[in-house]
Amino acid sequence: MVTVLSPRPDLWTLDPGVLHLNHGSYGGVPRRTQDLMAALRAETEANPMLWFRSVAARLTASRLALASYLGTDPEGFALVPNASAGITAALATLPIPAGSRIVLTNHAYGAVRYAAERTARARQADVVVVDVPLEADDETVVSLISAALDRASVLVVDQISSATAMVFPIAALVGACHDRGVAVVVDGAHAPGLIDAPAADGADFWTGNFHKWPASPRATAGLVVAEKWRPATLPLIVSWSEYDERLPERFDMQGTYDYVPWIAAPESLRVLAEVQWPVRRSQLSDLVDEGARVVAKALGTGVAEIARPAATMRLVEVPATVDLTAGEALKERVSRELKAEITLTGFDGRGFIRLSAHAYNSLRDYELLAERLPTVL
Ligand SMILES: Cc1ncc(COP(=O)(O)O)c(C=O)c1O
Repeated sequence: MVTVLSPRPDLWTLDPGVLHLNHGSYGGVPRRTQDLMAALRAETEANPMLWFRSVAARLTASRLALASYLGTDPEGFALVPNASAGITAALATLPIPAGSRIVLTNHAYGAVRYAAERTARARQADVVVVDVPLEADDETVVSLISAALDRASVLVVDQISSATAMVFPIAALVGACHDRGVAVVVDGAHAPGLIDAPAADGADFWTGNFHKWPASPRATAGLVVAEKWRPATLPLIVSWSEYDERLPERFDMQGTYDYVPWIAAPESLRVLAEVQWPVRRSQLSDLVDEGARVVAKALGTGVAEIARPAATMRLVEVPATVDLTAGEALKERVSRELKAEITLTGFDGRGFIRLSAHAYNSLRDYELLAERLPTVL
């Protein structure tokens, strides 16, 4: 019998007076990693020259640990500040001929869509958005996207979408695209920690955040590059390593920069090990299922039916009376008046509360949210 793991808010420094139910947006850094960052910053300020001489070796160690966590070839793994930067670097590298298409879905993250639009403007290409219904199963997703690949040069696709917390069938999509000579860029912003070996499906480029589910310091993300693109892939900031033949090293030192988060990031992976991830992850999946049902019941709505939901996120429908155009104001009210952090998402004219679960959450958090929410929704 598997023991139910206890919540571990003691490992974080989150305000206990607040219901923290949105790890998915900006994560949350455990106390131990914060302490390490503080020590590294103190070391920097004791002797900046000495610190910067040590950065390259420390970055190498950190990068190898992060690549190993993903189960990916370290020679194709570069550090980037966030998934947005990873997507931008990938699109800057790929040949996207004039008149060709960059294919996205209607689940794509806003800034990723903007990156595709900027690339399309620069290359005289077109952006095509494929509508994928919320309830679509893997087969439907693959057939809808495959039907839009005519004239496509690249597919940019979520591994786990933001607004809809849905897992996409990346291996099958890579197969379908490569059969037609279409490159694939995977937006795995939410994938590290939620999907094992998330970059193993053969995409041309994959990017993902360590500052979400692995709880690493913010501005820590990875870019995994298929062998054929490694020589051509460049960081967005030109640096002294511009002509280094090795992809990871080219991305390591992008000028004078705060390298502390990248160096401290593996400490959060040790915290995940301490909380028994991925046993914990499967229990959090049950927790967020139950929590979402409790919240939906209190609102008189339901939990969105998604064929493959992300392990630790669920969508609760908001009542039809809620004005979706006032989402920001509503989130602020929930934060201020209810002492709860949630996010609201919209998809296809429907509004949802996207609830998260991490190691610091317990069912009580969702029960309290359920008690409080009906006063503002
Ligand atoms: C699916 C998806 N893509 C991209 C991003 C952008 O990530 P970042 O802000 O780290 O660039 C996010 C952030 O939430 C996301 O959910």
